Amino acid sequence: MSTINPKEFGRVAVLYGGDSAEREVSLNSGAAVCDALCGAGVDAFLIDVDADIVTRLQSEKIDRVFIALHGAAGEDGRIQALLEFMQLPYTGSRVQASALAMDKWKSKQIFTAEAIPTPEYRALSADNLNSVIEEIGEHLMVKPAHEGSSIGMSKVTSRDQLQQAYQAAAQYDSNVFAEQLIEAAEYTVAVLGTETLPPIKLETDHQFYDYDAKYIADDTRYLCPCGLPSEKEAELKNLAVQAFQALGCEGWGRVDFMADEQGAFYTLEVNTVPGMTDHSLVPMAAKASGLDFSALVLNILSQTLPSSQ
Ligand SMILES: Nc1ncnc2c1ncn2[C@@H]1O[C@H](COP(=O)(O)OP(=O)(O)O)[C@@H](O)[C@H]1O
Ligand SMILES: [Mg+2]
Repeated sequence: MSTINPKEFGRVAVLYGGDSAEREVSLNSGAAVCDALCGAGVDAFLIDVDADIVTRLQSEKIDRVFIALHGAAGEDGRIQALLEFMQLPYTGSRVQASALAMDKWKSKQIFTAEAIPTPEYRALSADNLNSVIEEIGEHLMVKPAHEGSSIGMSKVTSRDQLQQAYQAAAQYDSNVFAEQLIEAAEYTVAVLGTETLPPIKLETDHQFYDYDAKYIADDTRYLCPCGLPSEKEAELKNLAVQAFQALGCEGWGRVDFMADEQGAFYTLEVNTVPGMTDHSLVPMAAKASGLDFSALVLNILSQTLPSSQ
């Protein structure tokens, strides 16, 4: 990898921004990725994705694309489909895996089918709130199926909170679900190529790892090494690979987990374009295994070269 001449990548478009609810995060990720590529001698430039993206991609000389878009349109397979159509090599998962991973509901159906543990869950609608509580209890996380960055999510610990939580999620998505709260510990595992990076344990004093705890608060604690005994750490990494492969993901990504009081792991979701600022989780895990930010970005980009396929 380190032997690649940066000029071999040709001209690299870093797609960032877009109009999803995660636009701000993507602006930071894209800028950090582009800086790192340029710093390593790659001919990279930024494209803020908007309705003119097709014309823009056609009008530039581009050899390959680094996707640094989070949320709908960038992470959900549509941009990937456009790039396939234009025969432009791009980073990360292909169309179908991107679409599946973006849909937490569909992802959980696949996890369940593949015996990958995930919290018990039910679809929510305005008129089934009570029956969901009867079935899976009143300690719930309510989520829109397609958002990221904890947007539209709420924690419910009593029956009277469910209505409001449902409405908050329904503002973002017609597909809303509730899953059982699993709260003893939270972990995330980055996948790079076919390897996993060291798991990170996340600790927050917020009710959960919400938008503020992710991007604003400075009191979120990231533990890497994560403190698990080696056989539990191996089990977690193995689950991350299973979840990643079950959705058909490729290249790089990050799998989020909760653990219960007994230490059992539950898979929450796979992120196919996780945050990539220099203080994001994947770069943190990469650093723990000796890869600095620039080496990480080059590793991801090098997967688009014909020799790596
Ligand atoms: N079932 C759950 N039990 C407890 N906390 C949860 C549960 N699901 C999600 N969370 C919390 O909410 C955060 C965001 O959930 P996640 O499913 O990873 O969605 P996203 O990161 O796409 O917003 C998690 O990092 C975790 O802190
Ligand atoms: Mg998550």
